[in-house]
Amino acid sequence: MNQNPLMTDYNVDELNRRFDKAAPESVLEWALDEFQNDLILACSFGPEDTALLDILTGLSDNPRVFVLDTGRLHEATYEMLNSCRTRYGIDFEIYFPEQQKVQALLQNKGPFSFYDSVENRKECCAIRKVDGLGRALGGVRAWITGLRRAQSDARSAVPRFEIDRAHNNILKINPLVDWTYEDVLSYHEQHKIPMHTLINKGYPSIGCEPCTRAIQPGEDLRAGRWWWESSQKECGLHVAHIGSNI
Ligand code: ADX
Ligand code: SF4
Repeated sequence: MNQNPLMTDYNVDELNRRFDKAAPESVLEWALDEFQNDLILACSFGPEDTALLDILTGLSDNPRVFVLDTGRLHEATYEMLNSCRTRYGIDFEIYFPEQQKVQALLQNKGPFSFYDSVENRKECCAIRKVDGLGRALGGVRAWITGLRRAQSDARSAVPRFEIDRAHNNILKINPLVDWTYEDVLSYHEQHKIPMHTLINKGYPSIGCEPCTRAIQPGEDLRAGRWWWESSQKECGLHVAHIGSNI
Protein backbone atom coordinates (compact mmCIF):
# COMPACT_ATOMS: atom_id res chain seq x y z
CA MET A 1 0.00 0.00 0.00
CA ASN A 2 1.19 3.51 -0.81
CA GLN A 3 2.26 5.64 2.18
CA ASN A 4 0.62 9.00 1.52
CA PRO A 5 1.90 9.58 -2.01
CA LEU A 6 1.36 13.01 -3.55
CA MET A 7 -1.83 13.14 -5.55
CA THR A 8 0.19 13.88 -8.66
CA ASP A 9 1.74 10.41 -8.19
CA TYR A 10 -1.60 8.87 -9.14
CA ASN A 11 -1.70 7.83 -12.74
CA VAL A 12 -5.42 8.05 -13.46
CA ASP A 13 -5.03 6.51 -16.92
CA GLU A 14 -3.47 3.47 -15.32
CA LEU A 15 -6.21 3.33 -12.64
CA ASN A 16 -8.92 3.66 -15.30
CA ARG A 17 -7.35 0.77 -17.25
CA ARG A 18 -6.93 -1.36 -14.14
CA PHE A 19 -10.52 -0.84 -12.97
CA ASP A 20 -12.14 -0.80 -16.43
CA LYS A 21 -15.65 -2.28 -16.02
CA ALA A 22 -14.89 -3.04 -12.35
CA ALA A 23 -17.79 -3.39 -9.91
CA PRO A 24 -18.21 -0.39 -7.57
CA GLU A 25 -17.39 -2.70 -4.64
CA SER A 26 -13.85 -3.35 -5.99
CA VAL A 27 -13.25 0.34 -6.64
CA LEU A 28 -14.42 1.33 -3.14
CA GLU A 29 -12.45 -1.48 -1.51
CA TRP A 30 -9.28 -0.19 -3.18
CA ALA A 31 -10.11 3.41 -2.24
CA LEU A 32 -10.75 2.59 1.44
CA ASP A 33 -7.47 0.70 1.64
CA GLU A 34 -5.57 3.46 -0.12
CA PHE A 35 -7.04 6.53 1.61
CA GLN A 36 -8.69 5.32 4.83
CA ASN A 37 -9.98 8.41 6.66
CA ASP A 38 -8.91 10.74 3.88
CA LEU A 39 -11.74 9.49 1.67
CA ILE A 40 -15.26 10.94 1.66
CA LEU A 41 -18.54 10.21 -0.17
CA ALA A 42 -20.64 13.13 -1.47
CA CYS A 43 -24.24 12.22 -0.73
CA SER A 44 -27.34 14.07 -1.98
CA PHE A 45 -29.61 11.06 -1.22
CA GLY A 46 -30.39 10.57 -4.90
CA PRO A 47 -30.56 6.86 -5.82
CA GLU A 48 -26.94 6.70 -7.03
CA ASP A 49 -25.72 8.03 -3.68
CA THR A 50 -27.89 5.74 -1.55
CA ALA A 51 -26.53 2.76 -3.54
CA LEU A 52 -22.97 3.97 -2.89
CA LEU A 53 -23.79 4.61 0.76
CA ASP A 54 -25.03 1.04 1.11
CA ILE A 55 -21.94 -0.42 -0.58
CA LEU A 56 -19.54 1.77 1.41
CA THR A 57 -21.12 1.00 4.79
CA GLY A 58 -20.91 -2.70 3.90
CA LEU A 59 -17.14 -2.34 3.44
CA SER A 60 -16.30 -0.01 6.33
CA ASP A 61 -17.65 0.45 9.87
CA ASN A 62 -17.29 4.19 9.89
CA PRO A 63 -17.00 5.70 6.42
CA ARG A 64 -16.98 9.47 5.95
CA VAL A 65 -19.97 10.91 4.13
CA PHE A 66 -20.88 14.56 3.61
CA VAL A 67 -24.10 16.32 2.67
CA LEU A 68 -24.32 19.85 1.28
CA ASP A 69 -27.43 21.18 2.96
CA THR A 70 -28.25 24.17 0.77
CA GLY A 71 -31.10 25.23 3.06
CA ARG A 72 -33.48 24.71 0.09
CA LEU A 73 -33.60 20.91 -0.10
CA HIS A 74 -36.85 18.97 -0.43
CA GLU A 75 -38.53 17.87 2.80
CA ALA A 76 -38.21 14.29 1.50
CA THR A 77 -34.42 14.72 1.29
CA TYR A 78 -34.30 15.65 4.99
CA GLU A 79 -36.43 12.55 5.67
CA MET A 80 -33.81 10.47 3.83
CA LEU A 81 -31.03 12.03 5.91
CA ASN A 82 -32.98 11.13 9.02
CA SER A 83 -33.71 7.53 8.05
CA CYS A 84 -30.17 6.87 6.77
CA ARG A 85 -28.65 8.20 10.02
CA THR A 86 -30.60 5.53 11.87
CA ARG A 87 -30.19 2.74 9.36
CA TYR A 88 -26.44 3.08 8.84
CA GLY A 89 -25.51 4.54 12.23
CA ILE A 90 -23.11 7.13 10.81
CA ASP A 91 -22.75 10.82 11.53
CA PHE A 92 -23.15 12.55 8.20
CA GLU A 93 -20.87 15.59 7.89
CA ILE A 94 -23.21 18.47 7.10
CA TYR A 95 -22.04 21.58 5.28
CA PHE A 96 -24.35 24.57 5.47
CA PRO A 97 -23.86 27.79 3.46
CA GLU A 98 -22.21 30.77 5.08
CA GLN A 99 -24.81 32.80 6.96
CA GLN A 100 -23.55 36.23 5.85
CA LYS A 101 -23.60 35.29 2.19
CA VAL A 102 -27.12 33.82 2.33
CA GLN A 103 -28.39 36.82 4.28
CA ALA A 104 -26.93 39.25 1.74
CA LEU A 105 -28.32 37.25 -1.17
CA LEU A 106 -31.83 37.19 0.31
CA GLN A 107 -31.69 40.83 1.31
CA ASN A 108 -30.38 42.10 -2.04
CA LYS A 109 -32.13 39.82 -4.49
CA GLY A 110 -34.97 38.04 -2.68
CA PRO A 111 -35.64 34.32 -2.27
CA PHE A 112 -36.15 33.42 -5.96
CA SER A 113 -33.35 35.32 -7.74
CA PHE A 114 -32.25 32.10 -9.47
CA TYR A 115 -35.27 32.24 -11.81
CA ASP A 116 -34.23 35.65 -13.17
CA SER A 117 -31.00 34.75 -14.99
CA VAL A 118 -28.35 32.04 -15.38
CA GLU A 119 -25.92 34.42 -13.68
CA ASN A 120 -28.19 34.73 -10.63
CA ARG A 121 -28.76 30.99 -10.55
CA LYS A 122 -25.02 30.31 -10.60
CA GLU A 123 -24.56 32.89 -7.84
CA CYS A 124 -27.02 31.03 -5.62
CA CYS A 125 -25.44 27.64 -6.43
CA ALA A 126 -22.02 29.08 -5.64
CA ILE A 127 -23.16 30.36 -2.25
CA ARG A 128 -25.37 27.44 -1.24
CA LYS A 129 -23.46 24.49 -2.78
CA VAL A 130 -20.06 25.09 -4.29
CA ASP A 131 -18.62 27.00 -1.29
CA GLY A 132 -19.58 24.11 1.00
CA LEU A 133 -18.03 21.60 -1.36
CA GLY A 134 -14.71 23.39 -1.04
CA ARG A 135 -14.95 23.16 2.75
CA ALA A 136 -16.01 19.49 2.66
CA LEU A 137 -13.03 18.57 0.49
CA GLY A 138 -10.53 20.74 2.36
CA GLY A 139 -8.88 17.97 4.37
CA VAL A 140 -9.31 14.88 2.21
CA ARG A 141 -7.24 13.20 -0.47
CA ALA A 142 -10.05 11.58 -2.43
CA TRP A 143 -13.80 11.92 -2.87
CA ILE A 144 -16.51 9.68 -4.24
CA THR A 145 -19.50 10.79 -6.30
CA GLY A 146 -22.53 9.17 -7.91
CA LEU A 147 -21.92 10.65 -11.38
CA ARG A 148 -23.02 8.44 -14.27
CA ARG A 149 -22.26 8.86 -17.98
CA ALA A 150 -25.86 8.19 -18.99
CA GLN A 151 -27.18 11.09 -16.91
CA SER A 152 -26.61 13.68 -19.64
CA ASP A 153 -24.55 14.53 -22.72
CA ALA A 154 -22.31 16.73 -20.57
CA ARG A 155 -21.45 13.68 -18.45
CA SER A 156 -21.04 11.19 -21.29
CA ALA A 157 -17.25 11.03 -20.92
CA VAL A 158 -16.88 11.09 -17.13
CA PRO A 159 -13.98 8.77 -16.18
CA ARG A 160 -14.01 6.40 -13.21
CA PHE A 161 -10.93 8.11 -11.75
CA GLU A 162 -9.86 11.69 -12.37
CA ILE A 163 -7.74 14.37 -10.76
CA ASP A 164 -10.02 17.12 -9.46
CA ARG A 165 -8.22 20.26 -10.62
CA ALA A 166 -10.82 22.49 -8.96
CA HIS A 167 -10.02 21.01 -5.54
CA ASN A 168 -6.30 20.80 -4.79
CA ASN A 169 -5.76 18.06 -7.36
CA ILE A 170 -7.31 15.42 -5.11
CA LEU A 171 -8.56 12.17 -6.62
CA LYS A 172 -12.21 12.09 -7.69
CA ILE A 173 -13.71 8.63 -7.87
CA ASN A 174 -16.93 7.92 -9.77
CA PRO A 175 -17.60 4.21 -9.22
CA LEU A 176 -20.99 4.16 -10.99
CA VAL A 177 -19.90 5.81 -14.27
CA ASP A 178 -21.09 2.94 -16.44
CA TRP A 179 -24.27 2.05 -14.54
CA THR A 180 -27.60 2.67 -16.24
CA TYR A 181 -30.55 4.14 -14.35
CA GLU A 182 -32.04 0.62 -14.36
CA ASP A 183 -28.86 -0.73 -12.69
CA VAL A 184 -29.30 1.88 -9.95
CA LEU A 185 -32.93 0.98 -9.36
CA SER A 186 -32.26 -2.74 -9.41
CA TYR A 187 -29.52 -2.34 -6.77
CA HIS A 188 -32.19 -0.79 -4.52
CA GLU A 189 -34.62 -3.59 -5.23
CA GLN A 190 -32.11 -6.38 -4.67
CA HIS A 191 -30.73 -4.93 -1.44
CA LYS A 192 -34.00 -3.53 -0.14
CA ILE A 193 -32.48 -0.19 0.77
CA PRO A 194 -34.25 3.13 1.35
CA MET A 195 -35.06 5.07 -1.80
CA HIS A 196 -35.83 8.77 -1.97
CA THR A 197 -39.63 9.05 -2.17
CA LEU A 198 -39.47 11.56 -5.04
CA ILE A 199 -38.06 8.87 -7.37
CA ASN A 200 -41.48 7.25 -7.72
CA LYS A 201 -43.04 10.67 -8.27
CA GLY A 202 -41.07 11.22 -11.49
CA TYR A 203 -37.86 12.82 -10.15
CA PRO A 204 -34.87 10.73 -11.36
CA SER A 205 -32.57 13.65 -10.49
CA ILE A 206 -33.13 15.55 -7.26
CA GLY A 207 -31.62 18.85 -6.25
CA CYS A 208 -33.02 21.84 -4.39
CA GLU A 209 -36.80 22.08 -4.06
CA PRO A 210 -37.39 25.29 -6.05
CA CYS A 211 -35.05 24.16 -8.83
CA THR A 212 -36.25 20.60 -9.49
CA ARG A 213 -39.46 19.33 -11.03
CA ALA A 214 -40.77 15.94 -12.15
CA ILE A 215 -40.00 14.86 -15.73
CA GLN A 216 -42.41 13.57 -18.39
CA PRO A 217 -41.94 10.09 -19.95
CA GLY A 218 -39.22 10.26 -22.61
CA GLU A 219 -37.60 13.40 -21.22
CA ASP A 220 -33.88 13.52 -20.38
CA LEU A 221 -33.16 12.30 -16.81
CA ARG A 222 -31.86 15.75 -15.84
CA ALA A 223 -34.59 17.72 -17.64
CA GLY A 224 -36.24 18.52 -14.32
CA ARG A 225 -33.17 20.34 -12.99
CA TRP A 226 -33.23 24.13 -13.58
CA TRP A 227 -35.98 23.33 -16.11
CA TRP A 228 -36.44 26.99 -17.09
CA GLU A 229 -32.88 27.14 -18.47
CA SER A 230 -31.77 25.83 -21.86
CA SER A 231 -28.04 25.86 -21.10
CA GLN A 232 -26.06 22.90 -19.71
CA LYS A 233 -27.60 21.77 -16.44
CA GLU A 234 -24.64 21.91 -14.08
CA CYS A 235 -24.23 23.91 -10.90
CA GLY A 236 -20.47 23.99 -10.44
CA LEU A 237 -19.94 20.93 -8.24
CA HIS A 238 -18.57 19.02 -11.24
CA VAL A 239 -17.02 21.73 -13.36
CA ALA A 240 -14.43 19.55 -15.10
CA HIS A 241 -17.21 17.89 -17.12
CA ILE A 242 -18.50 21.10 -18.61
CA GLY A 243 -15.10 22.27 -19.71
CA SER A 244 -14.84 25.36 -17.53
CA ASN A 245 -11.67 24.41 -15.72
CA ILE A 246 -9.88 22.09 -18.09
S1 ADX B 1 -25.54 18.50 -9.44
O1 ADX B 1 -24.17 19.02 -9.65
O2 ADX B 1 -26.41 18.62 -10.59
O3 ADX B 1 -26.16 18.99 -8.21
P1 ADX B 1 -26.28 15.76 -9.21
O4 ADX B 1 -27.49 16.11 -8.41
O5 ADX B 1 -26.46 15.20 -10.56
O6 ADX B 1 -25.26 16.99 -9.26
O7 ADX B 1 -25.39 14.81 -8.34
C1 ADX B 1 -24.15 14.29 -8.80
C2 ADX B 1 -23.32 13.91 -7.61
O8 ADX B 1 -22.89 15.10 -6.93
C3 ADX B 1 -24.07 13.10 -6.57
O9 ADX B 1 -24.07 11.73 -6.90
C4 ADX B 1 -23.28 13.42 -5.32
O10 ADX B 1 -22.14 12.63 -5.27
C5 ADX B 1 -22.88 14.88 -5.54
N1 ADX B 1 -23.88 15.82 -4.93
C6 ADX B 1 -24.85 16.50 -5.55
N2 ADX B 1 -25.57 17.25 -4.68
C7 ADX B 1 -25.02 17.02 -3.46
C8 ADX B 1 -25.32 17.47 -2.14
N3 ADX B 1 -26.32 18.32 -1.90
N4 ADX B 1 -24.56 17.01 -1.12
C9 ADX B 1 -23.53 16.16 -1.36
N5 ADX B 1 -23.21 15.70 -2.58
C10 ADX B 1 -23.94 16.11 -3.63
FE1 SF4 C 1 -29.86 27.88 -5.27
FE2 SF4 C 1 -31.41 26.43 -6.91
FE3 SF4 C 1 -28.71 26.19 -6.96
FE4 SF4 C 1 -30.19 25.24 -4.91
S1 SF4 C 1 -30.18 24.52 -7.06
S2 SF4 C 1 -28.30 26.34 -4.76
S3 SF4 C 1 -31.77 26.85 -4.72
S4 SF4 C 1 -29.96 27.99 -7.53
